[in-house]
Amino acid sequence: MERTFLAIKPDGVQRGLVGNIISRLEAKGFQLVGLKMLQVSRELAEQHYAEHKEKPFFGGLVDFITSSPVVAMVWEGKEVISTARKMIGSTNPLSADNGTIRGDFGIEIGRNIIHGSDAPDTATREIALWFSDAELASWKSTTAGWIY
Ligand code: RTP
Ligand code: MG
Repeated sequence: MERTFLAIKPDGVQRGLVGNIISRLEAKGFQLVGLKMLQVSRELAEQHYAEHKEKPFFGGLVDFITSSPVVAMVWEGKEVISTARKMIGSTNPLSADNGTIRGDFGIEIGRNIIHGSDAPDTATREIALWFSDAELASWKSTTAGWIY
Protein backbone atom coordinates (compact mmCIF):
# COMPACT_ATOMS: atom_id res chain seq x y z
CA MET A 1 0.00 0.00 0.00
CA GLU A 2 1.29 3.48 -0.88
CA ARG A 3 2.53 5.92 1.80
CA THR A 4 3.01 9.69 1.77
CA PHE A 5 4.54 12.32 4.04
CA LEU A 6 2.39 15.28 5.11
CA ALA A 7 3.32 18.08 7.49
CA ILE A 8 0.99 20.67 8.98
CA LYS A 9 3.09 23.83 8.86
CA PRO A 10 3.42 26.34 11.74
CA ASP A 11 0.46 28.40 10.48
CA GLY A 12 -1.83 25.34 10.42
CA VAL A 13 -0.84 24.42 13.98
CA GLN A 14 -1.13 28.00 15.31
CA ARG A 15 -4.55 28.41 13.72
CA GLY A 16 -5.92 25.22 15.28
CA LEU A 17 -6.41 23.33 12.02
CA VAL A 18 -4.68 20.08 13.06
CA GLY A 19 -7.89 18.25 13.98
CA ASN A 20 -9.77 19.39 10.89
CA ILE A 21 -6.95 18.27 8.57
CA ILE A 22 -6.57 14.86 10.23
CA SER A 23 -10.38 14.42 10.11
CA ARG A 24 -10.48 15.06 6.36
CA LEU A 25 -7.86 12.42 5.64
CA GLU A 26 -9.44 9.89 8.01
CA ALA A 27 -12.91 10.50 6.59
CA LYS A 28 -11.57 9.99 3.07
CA GLY A 29 -10.45 6.50 4.12
CA PHE A 30 -6.70 6.96 4.50
CA GLN A 31 -4.88 5.44 7.44
CA LEU A 32 -2.55 7.30 9.79
CA VAL A 33 0.67 5.32 10.38
CA GLY A 34 3.01 8.01 11.75
CA LEU A 35 2.37 11.17 13.79
CA LYS A 36 4.51 13.58 15.80
CA MET A 37 4.78 17.24 16.71
CA LEU A 38 8.25 18.73 16.51
CA GLN A 39 10.20 21.94 16.39
CA VAL A 40 12.04 21.66 13.05
CA SER A 41 15.80 22.37 13.00
CA ARG A 42 17.29 24.52 10.23
CA GLU A 43 19.21 21.47 9.06
CA LEU A 44 16.04 19.38 8.65
CA ALA A 45 14.18 22.25 6.95
CA GLU A 46 17.04 22.82 4.49
CA GLN A 47 17.23 19.09 3.68
CA HIS A 48 13.47 18.84 3.29
CA TYR A 49 13.28 21.80 0.91
CA ALA A 50 16.67 21.14 -0.78
CA GLU A 51 15.08 21.25 -4.26
CA HIS A 52 14.29 24.95 -3.67
CA LYS A 53 17.67 26.06 -2.32
CA GLU A 54 18.43 28.38 -5.26
CA LYS A 55 14.97 30.01 -5.19
CA PRO A 56 14.52 33.56 -3.86
CA PHE A 57 11.94 32.37 -1.30
CA PHE A 58 14.18 29.64 0.19
CA GLY A 59 15.49 31.63 3.18
CA GLY A 60 12.01 32.84 4.13
CA LEU A 61 10.60 29.34 3.72
CA VAL A 62 13.20 27.84 6.07
CA ASP A 63 12.67 30.69 8.57
CA PHE A 64 8.94 30.04 8.51
CA ILE A 65 9.08 26.24 8.82
CA THR A 66 11.44 26.55 11.81
CA SER A 67 9.47 29.37 13.49
CA SER A 68 7.17 27.19 15.61
CA PRO A 69 6.17 23.48 15.82
CA VAL A 70 4.83 21.44 12.93
CA VAL A 71 2.80 18.21 12.93
CA ALA A 72 4.54 15.57 10.79
CA MET A 73 2.52 12.62 9.54
CA VAL A 74 2.72 9.53 7.37
CA TRP A 75 -0.52 8.39 5.74
CA GLU A 76 -1.19 5.13 3.95
CA GLY A 77 -3.71 4.07 1.31
CA LYS A 78 -4.50 3.54 -2.35
CA GLU A 79 -2.91 6.33 -4.44
CA VAL A 80 -2.52 8.41 -1.27
CA ILE A 81 0.34 10.52 -2.71
CA SER A 82 -1.61 12.08 -5.58
CA THR A 83 -4.95 12.06 -3.74
CA ALA A 84 -3.54 13.88 -0.69
CA ARG A 85 -2.03 16.50 -3.04
CA LYS A 86 -5.48 16.92 -4.59
CA MET A 87 -7.04 17.31 -1.13
CA ILE A 88 -4.34 19.88 -0.23
CA GLY A 89 -4.89 21.99 -3.38
CA SER A 90 -2.66 24.31 -5.42
CA THR A 91 0.46 25.89 -3.90
CA ASN A 92 -1.11 29.37 -3.95
CA PRO A 93 -4.21 29.21 -1.71
CA LEU A 94 -5.86 32.02 -3.70
CA SER A 95 -6.04 29.76 -6.74
CA ALA A 96 -6.66 26.52 -4.83
CA ASP A 97 -10.14 25.06 -5.38
CA ASN A 98 -12.82 25.37 -2.72
CA GLY A 99 -13.03 22.11 -0.81
CA THR A 100 -9.25 21.73 -0.66
CA ILE A 101 -7.32 22.46 2.53
CA ARG A 102 -5.46 25.43 1.06
CA GLY A 103 -8.55 26.66 -0.81
CA ASP A 104 -10.68 26.57 2.33
CA PHE A 105 -8.19 27.98 4.84
CA GLY A 106 -5.49 30.04 3.11
CA ILE A 107 -4.80 33.34 1.37
CA GLU A 108 -1.02 33.60 1.08
CA ILE A 109 1.47 31.35 -0.80
CA GLY A 110 4.03 31.54 2.00
CA ARG A 111 1.39 30.52 4.57
CA ASN A 112 -0.25 27.58 2.83
CA ILE A 113 -0.90 25.42 5.92
CA ILE A 114 0.33 21.99 4.86
CA HIS A 115 3.02 20.18 2.91
CA GLY A 116 2.49 16.97 0.93
CA SER A 117 4.98 14.80 -0.95
CA ASP A 118 4.58 15.32 -4.69
CA ALA A 119 5.66 11.92 -6.11
CA PRO A 120 6.60 8.36 -5.04
CA ASP A 121 10.36 9.06 -4.92
CA THR A 122 9.92 12.24 -2.86
CA ALA A 123 7.50 10.43 -0.52
CA THR A 124 10.11 7.72 0.12
CA ARG A 125 12.83 10.32 0.69
CA GLU A 126 10.74 12.51 2.98
CA ILE A 127 9.36 9.65 5.10
CA ALA A 128 12.94 8.45 5.72
CA LEU A 129 14.09 12.01 6.47
CA TRP A 130 11.38 12.72 9.06
CA PHE A 131 10.63 9.33 10.63
CA SER A 132 12.62 6.34 11.86
CA ASP A 133 11.22 2.87 11.09
CA ALA A 134 10.37 2.46 14.80
CA GLU A 135 8.14 5.56 14.65
CA LEU A 136 5.94 4.07 11.91
CA ALA A 137 3.12 1.68 12.78
CA SER A 138 1.87 -1.10 10.54
CA TRP A 139 -1.67 -1.85 11.58
CA LYS A 140 -4.73 -3.41 10.01
CA SER A 141 -7.75 -1.17 10.23
CA THR A 142 -10.97 -3.02 11.09
CA THR A 143 -12.81 -0.82 8.60
CA ALA A 144 -10.39 -1.50 5.74
CA GLY A 145 -12.72 -4.20 4.41
CA TRP A 146 -15.45 -1.56 3.99
CA ILE A 147 -13.12 0.80 2.12
CA TYR A 148 -11.44 -1.63 -0.27
P1 RTP B 1 5.00 22.00 -0.37
O1 RTP B 1 6.29 21.48 -0.94
O2 RTP B 1 5.20 22.87 0.84
O3 RTP B 1 3.99 20.91 -0.16
O4 RTP B 1 4.30 22.97 -1.44
P2 RTP B 1 4.13 22.73 -3.00
O5 RTP B 1 4.72 21.40 -3.39
O6 RTP B 1 2.71 23.00 -3.33
O7 RTP B 1 5.02 23.92 -3.59
P3 RTP B 1 6.59 23.97 -3.88
O8 RTP B 1 6.77 24.47 -5.25
O9 RTP B 1 7.25 22.69 -3.49
O10 RTP B 1 7.05 25.13 -2.88
C1 RTP B 1 7.38 24.87 -1.54
C2 RTP B 1 6.82 25.97 -0.66
O11 RTP B 1 7.53 27.16 -0.90
C3 RTP B 1 6.67 28.27 -0.72
N1 RTP B 1 6.70 29.08 -1.92
N2 RTP B 1 6.74 30.37 -1.89
N3 RTP B 1 6.76 32.46 -4.84
C4 RTP B 1 6.80 32.18 -3.56
O12 RTP B 1 6.88 33.04 -2.73
C5 RTP B 1 6.76 30.78 -3.17
N4 RTP B 1 6.72 29.75 -3.98
C6 RTP B 1 6.68 28.65 -3.18
C7 RTP B 1 5.28 27.75 -0.51
O13 RTP B 1 4.96 27.86 0.88
C8 RTP B 1 5.36 26.31 -0.93
O14 RTP B 1 4.46 25.50 -0.20
MG1 MG C 1 6.67 20.81 -2.86
